[in-house]
Amino acid sequence: MISWDDEDKINQSGIVRKGSESLSSGQFKKCAVKLIVESESDNNELDILTELRHQNIVNLIEFGHLGNTGLETHLYMVMELCDCNLTKYMEIERDMSVTSFKFVSRQLLAGLGFIHGRNLIHGDIKPNNILVINKEIFKLSDFGISRRFRREYAHGTQTRDGVGSDGYRSPESYQSDVQLTRAADIFAFGIVLAQLISKGQHPYGPYPVDWQFSIRHSDKFPPKCSNLSIENPQKRKQLEELLTETISTKPGNRPSTRRVEEHEFFSDESVDNSRSIRQRSIRGNPQ
Ligand SMILES: Nc1ncnc2c1ncn2[C@@H]1O[C@H](COP(=O)(O)OP(=O)(O)OP(=O)(O)O)[C@@H](O)[C@H]1O
Ligand SMILES: [Mg+2]
Repeated sequence: MISWDDEDKINQSGIVRKGSESLSSGQFKKCAVKLIVESESDNNELDILTELRHQNIVNLIEFGHLGNTGLETHLYMVMELCDCNLTKYMEIERDMSVTSFKFVSRQLLAGLGFIHGRNLIHGDIKPNNILVINKEIFKLSDFGISRRFRREYAHGTQTRDGVGSDGYRSPESYQSDVQLTRAADIFAFGIVLAQLISKGQHPYGPYPVDWQFSIRHSDKFPPKCSNLSIENPQKRKQLEELLTETISTKPGNRPSTRRVEEHEFFSDESVDNSRSIRQRSIRGNPQ
């Protein structure tokens, strides 16, 4: 059984609350409860999340009907409770090491690769839609506008409704006659990575009001990926090149999740190894 207190809100709009799940052992486990409006044509979030089971995707525990409230029927989705979103995490962990950056990035890549492998597009990748547990597990969430990627539409036309959030929306997503592909998620993912490794700075500048315009005219206002907090100049250059490709204006130029994983920046373990050996010896010290 699930119970929640309407006042125990997790996010500002109150759409997500803290709840409690009673287990068969008689114990209680905390959970997150998200309320969504049921619509006959589209229970997207629920349908998609039911299908996705992966360690880097938020876990759906159960769902149910809440009954009618006026004209609308509400559904509730019970999810595992995470500690915070990536926006908050970036505020806390401003000086991220290369090792930690790779650690987070690889998890996000694993989650996104899993989604793309199922012919799905997330559609709204951004720090608020990435959840964190214990500062060590990173999960993609909020599949409210996800959609199935249709090969037959890849070069065709189809109108779309919600397609993401300004600052993370790809340039092509502003054109009504272009069908979105996985490359739109890659663009948003690239922006998130750039923020993670540059103390939260957005590659299109500090002012959210400018983001949409700059992205739509990125030929004139190219993104800035040169403030990366990486000391090693070779590594910094490698990542700068990778991020520039990832947030390229042309969707066809953006790499797949697999290509990002295989990129020399991520595949070269030499820097990571020296760091993790040092970390292990510190932890292993009984003092
Ligand atoms: N399972 C969860 N555990 C902990 N916090 C969560 C969970 N799910 C969502 N949240 C928090 O609630 C916020 C909003 O959730 P979500 O993105 O699913 O809804 P939304 O429709 O985008 O809501 P909003 O309009 O507030 O952005 C997230 O950014 C996160 O901080
Ligand atoms: Mg959201």
